[in-house]
Amino acid sequence: MPENTLTITDNRTNKSYTVPVENGTIRAMDLRQIKTGPDDFGLMTYDPAYLNTASCKSSITYIDGDKGILRYRGYPIEVLAERCTFLEVAYLLMFGELPTEKELNSWIYDITHHTMLHETTKKFMEGFRYSAHPMSMFVSTIAALSSVYPDAKLVRSPKDRMHQIVRLIGKVPSIAAMSYRHNVGFPYVYPDNDLSYTENFMNMLWKMVEPKYVAHPAISRALDILFILHADHEQNCSTSAMRSVGSSETDPYLAVASAASALAGPLHGGANEEVLRMLEEIGTKDNVPAYIKRVKDGHFKLMGFGHRIYKNYDPRAKIIRWCAEQVFEVTGRSPKLDVALELERIALEDEYFIKRKLYPNVDFYSGIMYQAMGFRPEMFTVLFAIPRTAGWLAQWEELMKDPEQKIARPRQVYLGPGEREFVPIDKRVPVPIPAEYPSH
Ligand code: CMC
Repeated sequence: MPENTLTITDNRTNKSYTVPVENGTIRAMDLRQIKTGPDDFGLMTYDPAYLNTASCKSSITYIDGDKGILRYRGYPIEVLAERCTFLEVAYLLMFGELPTEKELNSWIYDITHHTMLHETTKKFMEGFRYSAHPMSMFVSTIAALSSVYPDAKLVRSPKDRMHQIVRLIGKVPSIAAMSYRHNVGFPYVYPDNDLSYTENFMNMLWKMVEPKYVAHPAISRALDILFILHADHEQNCSTSAMRSVGSSETDPYLAVASAASALAGPLHGGANEEVLRMLEEIGTKDNVPAYIKRVKDGHFKLMGFGHRIYKNYDPRAKIIRWCAEQVFEVTGRSPKLDVALELERIALEDEYFIKRKLYPNVDFYSGIMYQAMGFRPEMFTVLFAIPRTAGWLAQWEELMKDPEQKIARPRQVYLGPGEREFVPIDKRVPVPIPAEYPSH
């Protein structure tokens, strides 16, 4: 019997089956042959929340959660954060190799020349309520771009796909900045092609009456590093949404809007905003032990802690901690950093967190740093979505080129009633509504 196989004995029938093992996986479809009789549908796996299911083969991002390793296309995240710019990393994610100088210049040129938005997009944004959350505006405006670019529907054409990819990477900072300016009631600022990706973003966010915006180099570099750290993270909730929605061959604006919607949740990219609120609520270092006790008592989760994959220190959190120190040299130290450091110190010594292997994740320090850089908490998840757009699109491109992929369509385990006789309205018996629902 070949070594790379798995033999399964079905104790219901005493039959044995041998299935191939490839890359540490068995194919779920190989289980379908395991039946108790001709009418049996065949065995399936049941995996709520995809705890142990690989949904694709990917060559983009590698994570070893036990060792705290993160690599894009084989390059350690620490090296990329130190030596590259975000657009260089976006190129790497997209094309698999680091660009030559000529390739990089032409990539930067293309992205830079797609930062403008159609004027109708501006009008669309003006329609949002004055108090709209920037992430809601970001998601909706990306989706609205689908109406501006009908060629985006040509998802089977590599040339058209690349056109939308460049447009999206170019336009997300502009949409993000307009969401912010709308939220604070300032006029929108147009992109400036003389500036780098992050400098231009800062220009669109913060330019007031000065003729030319000049970004602080330490802040724009720190933002660029944060963008590198957030660019991709393999098959997380939003990336799975991108692939799942993209698999129906919908256009990439709608797929990116879906992925960004998934990112908005507080258990995913929304956590950085929640961390800041948590630090504000804790207030001072002295209140940390009492707060940790309430977390352990199950009142709420410690935001910015824990990860589905990392059972060790998130390597991105380490870089952010270092990066935060550089930012604080310019902006002055945030008192929230001391509360965060105390939280981390106490949590990492505590049996509850040790047993569950809960460490700070990428969101734990990023919020403090963003706030020191001048961002409002409402913008934090948008700041995550800008670079992650490059990752979503690289994953989408990989999906579109993968001959094994089809429309995503999970199975279910149906536990509802069997076929029932229809009951006319005058014969129906009232069923008490569970107490957790308000009466209506
Ligand atoms: N605080 C307290 N307890 C926690 C935490 C936390 N932050 N995270 C997990 N646990 C406990 C959880 O209650 C469970 O305990 P028990 O075994 O007694 O039931 C155990 O640890 C395992 O947790 P889980 O909920 O099964 O883990 P998961 O893989 O389903 O969830 C997570 C991962 C990130 C959603 C979760 O750790 C969490 O909610 N963390 C807080 C939110 C957060 O910081 N999210 C950002 C994630 S990183 C960036 C990103 O993905 O966007």
